[in-house]
Amino acid sequence: MIPKETIEEIRARCNIVEVVGAYLPELRRRGSTYKCNCPFHKEKTPSFTVNDARQIFHCFGCGAGGDVFRFVMDYEKVDFITAVNVLAERVGVEIKYEGGAPEKGGNKDVLFKLHTEAAAFYHRMLLDSPEGAEARRYLEERDLPPKIIKEFQIGYAPNGWDELLTRAVKKGYTAEQLEAAGLVVPSDRGGKTSHYDRFRNRVMFPICDQMGRVIGFSGRIMNKAEKGAKYVNSPETLLFHKNRVLYAFDKARKPIVESRQAIVVEGQIDAIRCHQAGLGNVVASQGTALTENHARLIKRYADEVVLVLDADAAGVKAALASSEIFIANELSVRVVTLPEKEDPDSLIKKSGADALKKLIGDAQSALDFLIDAFRQQENMETEAGHMRVVEAVINLINQCPSASRRDPMIHSAADRLNISPLALSQDLRRAQRQQRPVPPRDGAVQNTVVPKKKYPRQETALLELLVHYYGEVHPLVHDFLPPFLLTDPTCKKLVEILMLDPPETLTGAFHEFDEETQKVIAQIQVEESRTIDNETTPIELAQRYILLFWKRHLEHEQKALAQRTDISNEERFKESSRLRHDLLKLSGDWAKALPMLETRLHSEIDF
Ligand code: CTP
Ligand code: MN
Repeated sequence: MIPKETIEEIRARCNIVEVVGAYLPELRRRGSTYKCNCPFHKEKTPSFTVNDARQIFHCFGCGAGGDVFRFVMDYEKVDFITAVNVLAERVGVEIKYEGGAPEKGGNKDVLFKLHTEAAAFYHRMLLDSPEGAEARRYLEERDLPPKIIKEFQIGYAPNGWDELLTRAVKKGYTAEQLEAAGLVVPSDRGGKTSHYDRFRNRVMFPICDQMGRVIGFSGRIMNKAEKGAKYVNSPETLLFHKNRVLYAFDKARKPIVESRQAIVVEGQIDAIRCHQAGLGNVVASQGTALTENHARLIKRYADEVVLVLDADAAGVKAALASSEIFIANELSVRVVTLPEKEDPDSLIKKSGADALKKLIGDAQSALDFLIDAFRQQENMETEAGHMRVVEAVINLINQCPSASRRDPMIHSAADRLNISPLALSQDLRRAQRQQRPVPPRDGAVQNTVVPKKKYPRQETALLELLVHYYGEVHPLVHDFLPPFLLTDPTCKKLVEILMLDPPETLTGAFHEFDEETQKVIAQIQVEESRTIDNETTPIELAQRYILLFWKRHLEHEQKALAQRTDISNEERFKESSRLRHDLLKLSGDWAKALPMLETRLHSEIDF
């Protein structure tokens, strides 16, 4: 629906290094390519590669790969059209759809607009409407003054079934768009679908993305006696991914960068209270478990995270789980234990911001926190109890990818556990060896990481040669390598394409290939063939691969021949000696094999 020329124009204007770099500021030049840790799987040494000359990315670790559109699709988890739109906006290309604009239900632009307008509507209802009176009273009781209400654009969702719905429809939005935004809920009545407002009679907290655009809401009940959940949140939508977003991050970003520290609290009101009290580098997890995505987001701006969580058992467990994730992402972690029955909001109100600041300043390291937490559950006098603590410590330290960060942890833990640092580091290494690769913790990332499909190395190597030395290698492959000799269907298809068209076709029509094929294209394009050295020319190398594929094929024939029952022994013998004879020719050099190959290629029987 988007004209090909438009797509090509966008591609031409988007430098993939700049686009990827905007998402992954840690991208660094390494020789002729750019590298950083892969955003699509968990790793400790960068295997994610972006090639400027070829405008393609590829991860040698998980096999993700593609062009600039594929990157945006995978990173933002959007479809091709949306990715094109995102990049078009970035480079200022206007898209004129062929045959009218697409169905707008899933379009991000519309969803952003809708959220902006919904937030403004809820905010207005809180400030001016008669039915907002109870919400105004509630916020006053909770000590949230007008200045804060305005700053965080707090609102009120009126108590009707279609207050937002009818207003939005009047403005030209469809119920489907509102549904895609998570603002209304569909209901089936008598076979007919109708919609009603998701948020009713609640105080509304808009949730913003890093850029401060509203992408979702959290609505709090005002009256304990009323039935229903304390908080109702936006569902997962094209814009809103709970496991990526941190409440108030847009406002906290600058203070986080300046202090290189991020403070994570649980609730929206806790975060708001902290900002009000002058603690600007505070974000809220909004009651969900912290994920890999959260950690990566923070890691871009901070070196240290301070977790401020409830003192109850669930809070301790959550703190330990979050610590692991943050440590694995090379962040220092400290943990604040609040006095019982307090949260940051209540503590500030009761004892002032300085009380919280002091707790944050005195916060213990995640490691000490863990040791203390285990000491309370375990009897350290028994060997078994002691060992369980040691194991937990080892597990936490082993999350940390950097040896120089691990070292002080080892010393401090050994000291506290009364064992020698040497013994502890030996156990750490043993645990590392036994450790099986852990699947990524985070659901969102997990979904995108398809277990890496192995393509036969020799077949991709031949494709590399074809792409990078097309002029020299094409005639050889064309004349001596019938594509059926390749075993992998994707590699076979690519060889077939390259016999007819030059390599530019692969990148030019990139988005027209299926995902599998895109990955292989990216892989063969991204780096110069590493198998070429001074002694071996591309032609020689291609010849070796061609001989190898023939050999593989003839050996296969040999096996098949032994199984055949439809031929006489005499025929079998004749064919078998021919195969043996030809295989012998294949073990020498190209010149020796050539006559045999020509005979085979010209005889009909093989095809
Ligand atoms: N939460 C949620 N759904 C719930 C309960 C809680 O999404 N049913 C999230 C909210 O983001 C909330 C956070 O978990 O802010 C912490 O929950 P809780 O401690 O119960 O609430 P407070 O933040 O203390 O909220 P309040 O002060 O308004 O009681
Ligand atoms: Mn609270």
